[in-house]
Amino acid sequence: MRIVIADPLAYSDSFERALRAALPSTDFVRWPDLADGAEYDLLVAWHLPKEMIAVPRSLRAIFCFGAGTDQLLNDPRIPADLPIARLQDQGQAEQLLDYAMHAVFARLHDDVATRADQHARLWRLPHRQNRTRGSLRTAVLGLGPLGLHVARGLSAAGFPVSAWSRNPRRIDGVACLHGDEGLGPCVDGADVVVNLLPSRHETKGILSDWLFSRLAPGAYVVNLGRGDHLDEEALRAALDRGWLGAAWLDVFSVEPLPPEHWFWRHERIRLTPHRAGLPTPQGVAASIAAVVAALEQGRRLPGLVRSGEAD
Ligand code: GLV
Repeated sequence: MRIVIADPLAYSDSFERALRAALPSTDFVRWPDLADGAEYDLLVAWHLPKEMIAVPRSLRAIFCFGAGTDQLLNDPRIPADLPIARLQDQGQAEQLLDYAMHAVFARLHDDVATRADQHARLWRLPHRQNRTRGSLRTAVLGLGPLGLHVARGLSAAGFPVSAWSRNPRRIDGVACLHGDEGLGPCVDGADVVVNLLPSRHETKGILSDWLFSRLAPGAYVVNLGRGDHLDEEALRAALDRGWLGAAWLDVFSVEPLPPEHWFWRHERIRLTPHRAGLPTPQGVAASIAAVVAALEQGRRLPGLVRSGEAD
């Protein structure tokens, strides 16, 4: 089995060590070191390198170096019958929960308003009078493995959680809603909404004026899905008229975010460069090893998002 790794994040020694430990007899090559026309079985990439004209005919599957696969699913260079499996990394899920938790605690403690008061040397009591965890309503959009981990984690920490997914789900301690008619009730009156949806035609622009207007006054919006989930002008209007308290953004329609973008300078926006949940060496190695074992044994690939077989 020959594997090509095409993501700069995985070019570090720690990734290499973890991969060699998990798959000692596998031949790994980094994309920049690959000879022209070389054949290989598995490509590990978050998106295909720009210089790649076509995938080799020997390729048996693509392992997505991340949880969201839209950038591969929408790539015309990838044949429709080529299986794509996504990363399943508990370490990534834990980081996303921590990030969401950080934003939720910031809302609980009125972080943005408090900083503005400090700046203005204004001594006043919190805008929210009841600042117990049980009083802060959170809504999680998306119940894939990452959204599920975040919803469970917030609930275990004592926050009331509602969650929304395309299909019905049942999760202990979480009020689950689904389908078009479930979205409004899920976010109604929420103090924080955390988006972890996949990017699909139906979810584009879901963080909209309609959704913001249903949240509690001063709510925080946390986007950990994709940049195209967010209606940027609706966000600007809701922040500027004071309806939303803050937005925590980790993903953007254009990445890297251009220096002239207004997000950089807005006082109610906290932004991070798409690093809220980075793949971990151990998680990636274990997830690739599981895919390799399934390929070798002719089993269904773990984390399969597109099998390439006609349904
Ligand atoms: C990050 O964006 C991922 O898809 O895991």
